[in-house]
Amino acid sequence: MKEKVKILLLGSGGRECAIAWKISQSPRLEKLFVAPGNAAKFGTNVALDPMNFEAVKEFVDANEIDMIVVGPENPLVAGIYDYFRDHSVKVIGPSKDAAQLEGSKEFAKEFMFRHHIPTARFMSVTAETIEEGYHFLESLKAPYVLKADGLAAGKGVIILDSLADAKDTLSDMLEGMFGGASATVVIEEFLSGIECSVFVVTDSEDYRLLPVAKDYKRVGEGDTGLNTGGMGSVSPVPFADEAFMEKVVKNIVEPTLKGLKEENLEYRGFIFLGLINVEGDPMVIEYNCRMGDPETEVVMPRLKSDIIDLFEGMADQTLSIKNVEFDERAAVAVMLTSAGYPGDYEKGKVITGLDKIGECLAFHAGTKENERGEVLTNGGRVIALVAYGNDIADAAQKAKAAAAIVDFEGKYLRNDIANDLLR
Ligand code: AMP
Ligand code: GLY
Repeated sequence: MKEKVKILLLGSGGRECAIAWKISQSPRLEKLFVAPGNAAKFGTNVALDPMNFEAVKEFVDANEIDMIVVGPENPLVAGIYDYFRDHSVKVIGPSKDAAQLEGSKEFAKEFMFRHHIPTARFMSVTAETIEEGYHFLESLKAPYVLKADGLAAGKGVIILDSLADAKDTLSDMLEGMFGGASATVVIEEFLSGIECSVFVVTDSEDYRLLPVAKDYKRVGEGDTGLNTGGMGSVSPVPFADEAFMEKVVKNIVEPTLKGLKEENLEYRGFIFLGLINVEGDPMVIEYNCRMGDPETEVVMPRLKSDIIDLFEGMADQTLSIKNVEFDERAAVAVMLTSAGYPGDYEKGKVITGLDKIGECLAFHAGTKENERGEVLTNGGRVIALVAYGNDIADAAQKAKAAAAIVDFEGKYLRNDIANDLLR
């Protein structure tokens, strides 16, 4: 690959902003475009829909792009990697078939069973086999976990306390609660434990681990209320210690990569392992075929190595000669959200204080700029304030201080991010 590269980054959230920030620091960057991007200024925004592959191709050709980095899952599951297979541009991501690890929960569960990767017991059902589904539910203990097979914008998992509710919800899901995404439903045994996110980069032959992170999904303090896209994140994760990570590598990472290889599933990108620590043993809750959001907002700051080198390793299958170095400091992200999120919320509120946060990082999620150069809210998750610290407590205190300074009408945040890791 060339020494200087032109990159097109697809997406517009906090994850993409953190990746753009990291890319922008590389001495190997010639030019970074972000499509469609937000009010952050780490690259040049382009008004392109990441799902319109033809338009992406026109842009790639006109601007001699060397590499497409894909933030969200939808273009990957829709096959953007395969679309550009015969093109000179390199796509960082899995092939369409490999992206089924995220695109189909049934595929992911069957893959894990084929390769003896620890995960919850399951049964996958359709309208024709609903009676078998009811029997399987009866054989489980409460609570009951139901998952729409297909992509459902992060809302496709429902956990129910009573058997009667679980049966009703199973029936509703199969009847189209999530459209075609829930025509098949995966019923799972409930696993109890604390979760963490492990990120792997692979070129289909080799792999490297990125820093481990934990996210905070519920809207309310103390992990209460509705699920969101994520209210904050922390890295490193104290319980993901050496002994735990040894099991992660041996029982999960290596069998996953071996499985991908055996099944000829081409993968040149990020694998996100959603894990749960069940009494010291890691089990897989889910695979994603992309980085996590807001985990990326703490993982990128803790990655010391050049990210373009790492992308090159994935694309050219030279990961075996790439080093991944971590920053020893901890990082904490606190997400500012719009009042009402994850329900209805207003947009267009002026954001103030971004120039007063000192050394903290501000990763834009849902923002846009108006003609006067003001930064406005433009989504439910608005902006992540990220701080480094000597330890998690120090980073959390600094991120929360920055989160108190940045302001807009209806600002909401969780003030307890990282607290559970400090006890
Ligand atoms: P997912 O979209 O698959 O990440 O699921 C959303 C959330 O539901 C996860 O982050 C877990 O907190 C929870 N969850 C999913 N599957 C299970 C399970 N088998 N046992 C317990 N919790 C689960
Ligand atoms: N933070 C979880 C996710 O990105 O799916």
